[in-house]
Amino acid sequence: QKARIGVTGLAVMGRNLARNLARHGHPVAVHNRTSARTKALVEKFGGEGTFLPAETPERFVESLERPRRLVVMVKAGGPTDAVIDEFAPLLEPGDMIVDGGNANFADTRRREAALRDRGIHFVGTGISGGEEGALHGPSIMPGGSAESYEALGPLLEDISAKVDGTPCCVHVGPDGAGHFVKMVHNGIEYADMQLIAESYDLLRHAAGLAPDEIAEVFRTWNTGRLESYLIEITAEVLAHTDVATGRPFVDVVLDQAEQKGTGRWTVQTALDLGVPVGGIAEAVFARSVSGHAALREAARSLPGPSRGAVADSGFADAVEKALYASKIVAYAQGFHEIQAGSAEYGWNIDLGAMATIWRGGCIIRARFLDRIRAAYEADPHTPTLLTDDHFAEAVGDAQDAWREVVATAARLGVPAPGFSTALAYYDSLRADRLPAALTQGQRDFFGAHTYRRTDRDGAFHTLWGGDRTEVSA
Ligand code: 6PG
Repeated sequence: QKARIGVTGLAVMGRNLARNLARHGHPVAVHNRTSARTKALVEKFGGEGTFLPAETPERFVESLERPRRLVVMVKAGGPTDAVIDEFAPLLEPGDMIVDGGNANFADTRRREAALRDRGIHFVGTGISGGEEGALHGPSIMPGGSAESYEALGPLLEDISAKVDGTPCCVHVGPDGAGHFVKMVHNGIEYADMQLIAESYDLLRHAAGLAPDEIAEVFRTWNTGRLESYLIEITAEVLAHTDVATGRPFVDVVLDQAEQKGTGRWTVQTALDLGVPVGGIAEAVFARSVSGHAALREAARSLPGPSRGAVADSGFADAVEKALYASKIVAYAQGFHEIQAGSAEYGWNIDLGAMATIWRGGCIIRARFLDRIRAAYEADPHTPTLLTDDHFAEAVGDAQDAWREVVATAARLGVPAPGFSTALAYYDSLRADRLPAALTQGQRDFFGAHTYRRTDRDGAFHTLWGGDRTEVSA
């Protein structure tokens, strides 16, 4: 018997993906650099389906039916290249290597091009949902050729999460499109987490609520328009009491957030594409600030405002509104980045389809994504989600509360970079005139960089050092 698909790299994500495939009735070949892991998987979970363990790359490749589907689940970066170098020589034209790690899309483009020359399909695939998702149904974002999706799509759709019967898996676009979209997914994840963290911080330090009371607030929010996996687990984390000390868990965790890189890439890529993603950038920076222990220690003695907490009973509702509005902005920015990446690389990504496959399985899964799907259905080419009828109305309704929350945060000295940047972005887009006109004047003054006018076409320069007349540049 041959396996329909194979997984190499059997750490927790790879192992769970292999089990998911086996549980869905797909015979799966399994391989790991050290074969103890392969043995352990088959011993423990062999009863869940048909596993074909292989000790060597050669045996692994031999055990796959053709065209071969080989899923690589190793650490992104060097290890991925090492696995490709090891397996590619054993493959034949038409075979597929699926990279399910959190690879940088530029690496994926490079690998895809190199393997395409040898007739091998390289399918950079975003997989979201953590270990549980990998086992019970993740959200899957495959890139690579349309031809490879014909052979892979049905399998991946089969093991993906389903929402209303629709699989959370779709062909995103060619070469690095899948990993690009997964990267932005993670950037949005960072922004969403940061906004939730700021909400908690305000409820704690502006409204004076205790962690278990805040958990209740999040539970309530989770029954409304904010309903999402991240809100749900936030309530769990806040309600948890540390076993060793009996204190709220959130108070015993060191307040230095770590990151593996996908959020940072989202911002770096946005800078290259010229797309403003302040919500994601502030989320990355907030983690960075938190990690600078010496800097924070040095600055701890700086003065803050003298006022105390606000005990307004309506404050939690205001924070809910600020959170919803800021979340809309963060998602609008992330989707703008996907739109820009798609245009830059010619990927032709269907934005509504991305919202559709994020409704289930992934970390940012939420009721809200159905709204985004609907927005792109109504207007696939909308320049921003903010002007969609539903979102425009929601943000319009929320804005007074949102402004109050940002003002309260500033007044009380509670940092709220995510809420603030989202509001500034909203007001920038709305503005009739931006002070960018002044910036242009300054640039022309000190560097003769020229400017365009509102009333005439062309580039102009003012003779600042002379009689200040204008010349055509
Ligand atoms: C997912 C997650 C997953 C991983 C993040 C964590 O979609 O399942 O995004 O990919 O948990 O990369 O990222 P940080 O370690 O950078 O927070």
